[in-house]
Amino acid sequence: MQRWTLGDDDGHNRAALSQAASLLQGGKLVAFPTETVYGLGASALDEAAVLNIFRAKQRPADNPLIVHIADETQLASVLPSDYEPSRAHKQLMDAFWPGPLTLLFPVGDAIAPAVHPGTDLVGVRMPDHTIARTLIRLSDVPIAAPSANTSGRPSPTTADAVAEDLGEVIDGLVDAGPCGIGVESTVLLVEEERALILRPGGITQEMIADVIDLPVVYDAHLIDLDAPALAPGMKYRHYAPDARVHVWWGQPEEIYRAMLELLLDDEVDHELRAAIVAPDDFLSRYELPVARDLARPLCHEAYDEALAKHLYRLLREFDHAGATDILIYGVNPARGLGTAVMNRLQKASGGRVLRV
Ligand code: TXA
Ligand code: MG
Repeated sequence: MQRWTLGDDDGHNRAALSQAASLLQGGKLVAFPTETVYGLGASALDEAAVLNIFRAKQRPADNPLIVHIADETQLASVLPSDYEPSRAHKQLMDAFWPGPLTLLFPVGDAIAPAVHPGTDLVGVRMPDHTIARTLIRLSDVPIAAPSANTSGRPSPTTADAVAEDLGEVIDGLVDAGPCGIGVESTVLLVEEERALILRPGGITQEMIADVIDLPVVYDAHLIDLDAPALAPGMKYRHYAPDARVHVWWGQPEEIYRAMLELLLDDEVDHELRAAIVAPDDFLSRYELPVARDLARPLCHEAYDEALAKHLYRLLREFDHAGATDILIYGVNPARGLGTAVMNRLQKASGGRVLRV
């Protein structure tokens, strides 16, 4: 795998990106940063290249990929030639592109069938990341790109995380530092009567509702955080580290009590090596028996954003440090980025999320 580390030298960056773009044009796999997470890119027009994405990630063959474009003129190459986006689509693109919003459209003939297994819709987004857009523009093709992790593992928000999972099986990696948002894009299906959020992400329900005249609703199976942990939707673990993840949200005092109870539980074996993520003011107020090197205080003033930004990296770090259990101070899932973060935490924890 060729790895390019980008920095302040524009000439070097440009040379690196044109090499990476040539690889993409030649049907190779290249990972690159976006504002959400690192993506594993291949030409969306090249069936063999797209199939290689599935192989590299060990991704289930029925899970469709998002196509990334550099600008709106490129959108036409992804959609059917006679298709005209609706008014709501246009309002959303104007408001949120480039940005973490994936819109579903009817798929055009040029797109490789492996991009959209089982559906005639294709997810499209324009990343809010100059390096990503430059790479796509130079490659001159729309780029299919799922998150650049092995399927089931936490998404990568750093180049090292990409290398850890996929270093042996991909051709190139563009390293331009950590991602800004840290959770993936919102996936939205705009219908005639309503807009349906299929995956909560960087663009929130409120933000979407502000821009279009349609009701904005969550796909029914998506989130019911108050449902018991063994609800049917909880049966798969995604975004998951090796350690057990436990999440509480609600009253700080109650969160503290629940964390303490877990840490002191006689039933829990003595090999327990707990890690914790919580707001800095919470960790300084309440004393918890957790090793100092496994406690990660995040700024309480923008805790939701900080949790989104650092979560996937911390999950990986705790695995490296040999943590058996990860205790997480969760956030209100009904507000802002909280919906996306708690959705990922619900999956990472296999449903071990409690409101207290
Ligand atoms: O932020 C992101 O979206 C990142 C960066 C790299 O752009 N990409 C990403 O891709 O998260 P991936 O493959 O890890 O997740 C894509 C999600 C999947 O849950 C997939 O099922 C859904 O989007 N999706 C993609 N195309 C779809 C379609 N045509 N219909 C329904 N769901 C679709
Ligand atoms: Mg993914």
